[in-house]
Amino acid sequence: MQKEVSSYYDYTLPFYRFFWYKNRESSAIHYGLWKKGTKSFEEALMNTNRFLAKIANIKKEDIVLDAGCGVGGSSIWLAENLAAEVTGISISNKQIDEARKLAKKNSLIKFFVMDFLRTKFPDSSFDVVWAIESACHAENKKDFLKEAYRLLRRTGRLVIADGFLRRAPKLDDAKDFLSQFCNGFAVPNLALAKDFEKMMREVGFKNIKVLDKTGEFMPSSQRILKIARFAYPISILTEKLHLTSPILTKHILAGIAQYKVFGGNLGGYFVFYGEK
Ligand SMILES: C[S@@+](CC[C@H](N)C(=O)[O-])C[C@H]1O[C@@H](n2cnc3c(N)ncnc32)[C@H](O)[C@@H]1O
Repeated sequence: MQKEVSSYYDYTLPFYRFFWYKNRESSAIHYGLWKKGTKSFEEALMNTNRFLAKIANIKKEDIVLDAGCGVGGSSIWLAENLAAEVTGISISNKQIDEARKLAKKNSLIKFFVMDFLRTKFPDSSFDVVWAIESACHAENKKDFLKEAYRLLRRTGRLVIADGFLRRAPKLDDAKDFLSQFCNGFAVPNLALAKDFEKMMREVGFKNIKVLDKTGEFMPSSQRILKIARFAYPISILTEKLHLTSPILTKHILAGIAQYKVFGGNLGGYFVFYGEK
């Protein structure tokens, strides 16, 4: 699965650069959160950083692991806005090259190509493990939680923002769009939110908080649906002409499916917080 995830992110990097983040300040690959008064997608992306940093109470003295850092947007934001020391890891070589360029030699930030399920860091290396829309890529979510727990210092904090299921999919059509979503975004499966909370407890996390942020996430889901509906027929054509890979066509189809997953009562967008 890790190979599939890295090929997916290596291939889609130029498309994310064009359609998602326009500049260094907004170099994020997630949905963002729309608060009252949020005026742009870029602002919504930054809202997620602000919200998670507040929940996890991140301060200057903290050493943060940005687990599944994409092109480094949150790592850069944490270092530049809170003066925290940040290590960002991603399974995609191309993302890490891009992240290093965007970080512009800020001495508080380091980036490595590394699997977050098997990192090379010693026990108790970090005060905070931060994961925006990355834990969903782990085949076994508990493996992600166990590694995060191992890496945290005593009283360390874990903060995650991601898509989850509210209930098990029952109907075949629910399974169809769920599998289009998973296949196209290189996500092996989505965990049930209540199972994930239980796994956090089993791994040892305490003072767990679960926050349903679906309402604030949906404007971005709608925006992605619009772009994907427009781009899908073009991607079929460009794939037929061997100009683009099937990875892109599946990715765009997942852009349509994601709205069905989260727009009904099957999926939701949650923030999970826990302490070691
Ligand atoms: C949707 S992107 C989110 C990126 C970033 N957190 C952000 O918000 O911009 C998911 C990220 O998880 C990373 N990822 C997925 N599986 C991984 C693994 N096993 N180890 C490390 N990174 C992984 C991907 O490479 C990608 O950077």
